[in-house]
Amino acid sequence: MCGIFGYVGSRNDAGNVVVEGLKNLEYRGYDSWGVACSVGDGFLVKKDIGKISAVNGLQFFDHSCLAVAHTRWATHGGVTKANAHPHLSEDGSIAVVHNGIIENFVQIRDDLKAKGHTFLSETDSEVIPHLIEEEYKKSGDFAASVRQACLQFEGRYAILALHTGSKTIVAARTGSPLIVGVMRKDKGAAEDGYFIASDIPAFMNYTKVVQYLDDGEMVVTDGKSILFSDIQTGSEKPKREIEITWSIEQSEKGDFEHYMLKEIMDQKESVARAVNQDEEQIQTLAHAIRDAKGTFLVGCGTAAKACMAAEYFFSVIAKHHVNFAPASEFKLYHHFLQKESLLIVVSQSGETADVLDAMRVAKLKGSKVLAIVNVEGSTIAREADYTLLINAGPERAVASTKALTGQLAVLLLIAHALAGRLQEGRTLLLETGAQINDMLNPRYVHRLKLLAEKIKNEEDLYIIGKSWNYPMALESAIKIQEVSYVHAEGFAGGELKHGPIALIEKGSPCIALYGHDEVTTDLITNAIELKARGAFMIGVGPTQHEVFDEWIKVPDVAAAQPLVNIIPIQVLAYFLAVKRGKNPDMPRNLAKSVTVK
Ligand code: M6R
Repeated sequence: MCGIFGYVGSRNDAGNVVVEGLKNLEYRGYDSWGVACSVGDGFLVKKDIGKISAVNGLQFFDHSCLAVAHTRWATHGGVTKANAHPHLSEDGSIAVVHNGIIENFVQIRDDLKAKGHTFLSETDSEVIPHLIEEEYKKSGDFAASVRQACLQFEGRYAILALHTGSKTIVAARTGSPLIVGVMRKDKGAAEDGYFIASDIPAFMNYTKVVQYLDDGEMVVTDGKSILFSDIQTGSEKPKREIEITWSIEQSEKGDFEHYMLKEIMDQKESVARAVNQDEEQIQTLAHAIRDAKGTFLVGCGTAAKACMAAEYFFSVIAKHHVNFAPASEFKLYHHFLQKESLLIVVSQSGETADVLDAMRVAKLKGSKVLAIVNVEGSTIAREADYTLLINAGPERAVASTKALTGQLAVLLLIAHALAGRLQEGRTLLLETGAQINDMLNPRYVHRLKLLAEKIKNEEDLYIIGKSWNYPMALESAIKIQEVSYVHAEGFAGGELKHGPIALIEKGSPCIALYGHDEVTTDLITNAIELKARGAFMIGVGPTQHEVFDEWIKVPDVAAAQPLVNIIPIQVLAYFLAVKRGKNPDMPRNLAKSVTVK
C-alpha cells in the first residue's frame, strides 16, 4: 500500500529516475502521486491526483541528484492534491513521503498545533515532517531529528525524508517495507548511487544488489556511502549485500494487454517451479508439522483460500488435523498456542500487515513459524523460522493468480510428505503443471471469453464447491468481485438449502466446481437443486452432466483439482473485467500489497 521511492547519487536526473521507477510500484496504490527533488538550496515539489503512469517527463526536475516520490493508496483523507505526498514541514525545509499509518497522529498534530504548526491535508502523514522540524530545532542534526521523531510514532511507517540543508536521504521503517538498491563503482557499476524503495521493481533497471532494512532500522545516505542504524539505540547495524535472482523481464507484461492475463499464462510453468523444492527441507517441515502441538494455517484473501484448501489436503491425504484462521482473526487464537505449536503463514508479497501481526502473536508464545511466500527477502520471509519460496516470479496484478496455484502446490506437496508419499505428490503436481500448460491454449481461452460475453451484464453470480473445491468457490468469488465488480458469492454446495438458495431466480448464473471424487455426486445434487430454481448452470469439472447449460472441461487430477479448477475462473474473471470496461490490473479501492491493518 503506497509506493515510495528515493534516489541519491551521481546522476543528475534524479527526478526522472524516481518518477520512472515509481511507475513500477503503481500496483501498491494509484490514486495520486508526488515528487520532491533537491535543486540548489531548496527543492521542487510536484504532486497531483491520478496515476503516475500517466505522467510523462518532468523536465524541470533535471539537474538534480536527489529525489523522493510517492504513489498513494488513500487511508486517512480522500483523494486530493493536498493529501498527496510529499508533505512539507511548517517552514518548507523538510519533505517526507510515507507508507503506513501513524496511529497517534491526532495527539501529535494537536501538540504541534499548540506550537503554531498549521496543517494543509487530512492525512496522518503530514505530522511527520512537522515533528522532524521540531526535533531539528533542538539538535540541528537532520538524521538525529528523524530518529527522535520516529521514537514518538505509534503504528507503521516507511518514510523517506529530505532536508534543504543536507544532501542526504534519511529513511526509516517500522512495519512497512523498505529496500535499498546499491550501485557502486567499486563494485563494477558505471556510477555511484543508492535507491530506497518499497519494493525492488522500482530500481531493477539499475541494480540487482540490495540491502534489506529490518523493522526498527533507519539509513542515511548521500549517494556515496550508506549507514544503517537501530532507531531505538542509535547504534550502527552491519548489513549484508544480496544479489537478487529474478530479472526485470520477468516482472514486465511483454505483449500482454494486462499483467493479470500474463500472470494467468505464467501458470504454464510456475506450478512446476513451485514443486521444485528441496526434498530434505520438505521432509523436515512435514516432521515439524507431525510433532507440533497444534498447527495453524493463516493468510489473507487469496492466500487464505490456499490455507483453507490445505486443511482438506492435510485431512484427506495425511489424516492430520490443522487449523485455519484468516490472519486478521488469528490474534484471538493465541490461547491455543504453545511453545511447541507451529504457525504456517502463506503470503504472496511477504509484507501483509495482518500476517505479520499473526506471526508476532505466535512468536510471543515461542511458537515456530513456517512461511510460504513468493517474494524472496520480504519481511515475512526474513522473520520466519523456516521459509519456502513458491518461485512464481513477480506478481504485479492486484488479483492474485499464479501465486495461488504455487501456494496450493507447495501445501499439497507437504501434505503428501506428511503422509509419507512425497514422490507421489511430486509426480501428481508435475503432471498437473503439464495439464495446466495444455489447458491455457488459445481455443480454451477463447471459449471463456465467449462465456464472459454471455454473462457480462449479470450483476450477481454464485459459485459452489465441496471439499477442497469449497475454498476455490470462495476464491472464485474474490477473483470475479475484485476485477469485474460483479457481485459474486461462493458457497459450500450443501449450505445452499440453509439460506442462499433464496437468492436464485430464473437465469441466475451459478458455477459449480467439482472433481472426480467422493463428493462429486453431492455437488451435482446441489447443482440440480439450483437448476430447479431456474439457475443458468455452468459446470467446471472433468466430466459432463446434463444439469449444466455450459460445461468447462478441466483435467481430472485428484487432490490437485483445486489448481486446475481455478484456472478457467481466473480467465473468466479477467474477461468479465475487460468486457465491462474495467482495468483488471488496477481495481478500484484495492492495492497489491496490504501493509496496513
Ligand atoms: O501478499 P499476500 O498474499 O499476503 O496478499 C493477501 C491478499 O491481500 C491478496 O491475496 C488479495 O486478496 C488479492 N487481491 C486477491 O486477488
